Amino acid sequence: MSLIHTWLPAATPDSDNPLQIIAAEGPYLYTRDGQKLYDAISSWWCKPLGHRHPLVKESLEAQLKIFEHHLPANAYNATIEQLSTLLVGIFTQMDKVIYASDGSSAIEIAMKLSYETRVLQGEAKRCKYLALSGAYHGETIFTLGVCGIANYTQNYQALISQNLFIEDIVYVDSPQDPAWDNAPFASEKLEQFFNQHASQITALLIEPTVQGAAGLKIISRDYLRKLINLARAHGIHIIADEIMVGLGRLGYFSVTKELLGSEPDLVCFAKHLTAGSIPMSSVVVNRSISDIYRKHKQIFPHSHTHSCNSLAAAVAVDYLSLLHNSDILADVRVAETILIEFNIKLKQRFAFISKARAIGAIAAWELNLAAKSMKQIVALAHSLGIHLRPIGNIVYLLPPIYNILEDLKVLLPKIEILFEKLQEPAKG
Ligand SMILES: Cc1ncc(COP(=O)(O)O)c(C=O)c1O
Repeated sequence: MSLIHTWLPAATPDSDNPLQIIAAEGPYLYTRDGQKLYDAISSWWCKPLGHRHPLVKESLEAQLKIFEHHLPANAYNATIEQLSTLLVGIFTQMDKVIYASDGSSAIEIAMKLSYETRVLQGEAKRCKYLALSGAYHGETIFTLGVCGIANYTQNYQALISQNLFIEDIVYVDSPQDPAWDNAPFASEKLEQFFNQHASQITALLIEPTVQGAAGLKIISRDYLRKLINLARAHGIHIIADEIMVGLGRLGYFSVTKELLGSEPDLVCFAKHLTAGSIPMSSVVVNRSISDIYRKHKQIFPHSHTHSCNSLAAAVAVDYLSLLHNSDILADVRVAETILIEFNIKLKQRFAFISKARAIGAIAAWELNLAAKSMKQIVALAHSLGIHLRPIGNIVYLLPPIYNILEDLKVLLPKIEILFEKLQEPAKG
């Protein structure tokens, strides 16, 4: 069947030669024209267990025997409470979990919660958010207000709320980069900035250590820690967007808690939460926020029909239990060292790699290859059995993590062959 009426995301109305997927199993996508492609970007970063993993099938089947979903208003079930207990248990100061259907909605919830506590406390003028240049927190109009990537925002300026952004972020190539734990920090300039603006700012939004949509850019953890401390000292809430990095991608449940050593006011998870099966996201809420609602007996006026979806919750409980009871997280941390070593080798071999970075189960390469279009790279990768989706001139790997060490043995030699082919002079 041809693609006629579906307008695919991030595309013009009529997509140019999209893949027609007829099956997906493990890390592979199978296409109508007979290709078997390794899903090297985990279907937009959401498939830690690959496709049709038995855990997902079994959780869904077990939950379907009971019910698939019921209203979440003044009603709950054991599965959703079990999930909330697991999520809160990642932290020490967290208290509650609110659910939505996707990552952007979770960010909106966190932004509203932060601001509403200000209203309740007589600080309604704290109505601005602070984000980082290169930030991406979703594509709804409210979340575009904290997006630091012009491509997503330029045509909507008239609709977007105006917020504040921090420039001059310190990026690193990997956690082995000296600046990872010792970053230059423009203390005086930033202190001045906070002195001037903090009274208007309710929350700082961060993508803890990896800015995905900006091109898998890794932020120095020392820089982020210093920024968080400074914001906190000025009474600003911290919203950690762990939608891409959380629940396994970097080898931790929470990157903010375990890698930055910080307990945010609000943490958003999505993507990995349900192993990319039923859409659901969550906002984990610090007791300092929920206590303000308790004190004022305030209802949080925000509800999604599929908040607390039971099928999604059942998979999430089993996925989190698997992370607790397997070596997956430890394997991701081993994968990180393999990817860092691989990058050293690649950079020595291929002069057209201007930057190579790696963290957790993520590797990215900035290519200085004006002549070769990214379309050609995708086609070359397909001929090697890998599905990639470069961001601008950045090619990256973000594979499923459940079998990461075995998968890298197959994937990395193919990436090397891909780069060899890119190096060959164009024919004709
Ligand atoms: C860091 C981050 N925040 C927010 C989002 C938005 O999530 P969703 O696409 O589920 O709305 C994404 C999606 O890629 C993301 O990577």
